[in-house]
Amino acid sequence: MKIINKLKNIIFKLSPHLAVKMGIEFPLKSPNRVFLETSVFQYINQIYGGKQPRSNGLFIGTDKRSWHYPKVLDLELHTIDIEKKKALYGNHKHHIVGSATELERYYDPESFDVIIGNGLIGFGMNAPEQCEQLLLGAALLLKNDGLFIIGYNDGPEFVNFKVKAAANYQLFDECVPGQFGLTQSTYQFGDHTFVFLKKRTAS
Ligand SMILES: C[S@@+](CC[C@H](N)C(=O)[O-])C[C@H]1O[C@@H](n2cnc3c(N)ncnc32)[C@H](O)[C@@H]1O
Repeated sequence: MKIINKLKNIIFKLSPHLAVKMGIEFPLKSPNRVFLETSVFQYINQIYGGKQPRSNGLFIGTDKRSWHYPKVLDLELHTIDIEKKKALYGNHKHHIVGSATELERYYDPESFDVIIGNGLIGFGMNAPEQCEQLLLGAALLLKNDGLFIIGYNDGPEFVNFKVKAAANYQLFDECVPGQFGLTQSTYQFGDHTFVFLKKRTAS
């Protein structure tokens, strides 16, 4: 197993293109990645999967760890990343090279059932205004009952703000999925946090 993982890592290093073509998934998974790919994805597929037409999803930021997500998520999955070279890991049917600070430039308002923004805050979107723009864009793009799953690192070694203190965090309410053992709205894995958010609607 170790040898196979080593081999997969080498192929990813030598040629990400070849690795994706060979259908190789990134072998080393941290606990937060396992949580995302099991509990979170099971929940998404349970709630939004199996629909005709398919539910619309947006996965922000694409990487070698995530190239296969269009296959495992039962959604019409759109992807976006600011870096052109990361397009390789996006959904070739629905990928945009662009910034998550201006999502409303690329997508229609209220067009998504689910948005996943993992590994952005603390990994490129490190200014407070970028966090505000990300939250605003996600709120504009989500349908009324839409779900935003945000995964971030906002410790002092990553950024100088707290996601939950952002003004646009108020556009959402934290929510508890209540399935697949998901009994909390916030999950902490070391310095990585996941929060389940529902768009706040006028009541
Ligand atoms: C740590 S990776 C996370 C990738 C993916 N979301 C995941 O969970 O596997 C961070 C990615 O975010 C992208 N990124 C950084 N700032 C961005 C921005 N403003 N808009 C879109 N993507 C951005 C980077 O290019 C990089 O591919």
